[in-house]
Amino acid sequence: MSEDWITFAMPKGRIFEEAAHLLRQAGYPLQEDFSAGRKLIVEAPEANMKFFLAKPMDVPTYVEHGVADIGVAGKDVLMEERRDVYEVLDLAISACHLAVAGLPHRRKGRIAPKIATKYPNIATQYFKEQGEQVEVIRLSGSIELAPLIGLAERIVDIVSTGKTLKENGLAELETIDHVTSRLIVNPVSYRMKDRQIDEIVQRLSVIVEEGRSRHEDHTG
Ligand code: PRP
Repeated sequence: MSEDWITFAMPKGRIFEEAAHLLRQAGYPLQEDFSAGRKLIVEAPEANMKFFLAKPMDVPTYVEHGVADIGVAGKDVLMEERRDVYEVLDLAISACHLAVAGLPHRRKGRIAPKIATKYPNIATQYFKEQGEQVEVIRLSGSIELAPLIGLAERIVDIVSTGKTLKENGLAELETIDHVTSRLIVNPVSYRMKDRQIDEIVQRLSVIVEEGRSRHEDHTG
């Protein structure tokens, strides 16, 4: 019996590479030179899979609208976008964290300090929970620039290696949440293609679990 194509919305770049590696380990044949080039749609006919390469922040949008059955999105993106999708598996890749950062030794003083971020929803909710009144300023990238030139007192951003903060003389002030990439599924696709999607989720969860136990063996 011929099976339906399964369509994936994927972030371009490193997360795509890591997710493709997991799929290969899970037994889906994806060619090695897969993400080479600038094509935005790549197919793996032997695996019945088609991949759309999107901006990370847009992945949940493609999945919510059902043009992609499955997506890979960071927890940060899911928290910010709050789309109507099922989050079915923590892929445990691309680990980093969301943090508040700013110039070190800067005293809190101003009423409603300015917070620059590409995560306005996360920042608004976080400071509301902290009971602190702030003014959130939305930027698209290079967030670390804002406190250096006085656009904002603090930032809310992703910290991975910590290199960007360090090289710009900024300090992490508070950790908001840990972030990894998640597998998300369109609710209608999950009903219509349940057998195929379940199999992908099952096979990937075995690989993720194996990776986790190997990691625990190494770290004790
Ligand atoms: C991300 C993030 C930080 C940086 C953190 O930016 O927004 O700026 O990476 O990584 P690090 O802790 O390893 O230095 P990205 O490179 O995605 O670019 P952007 O500034 O355009 O968002």
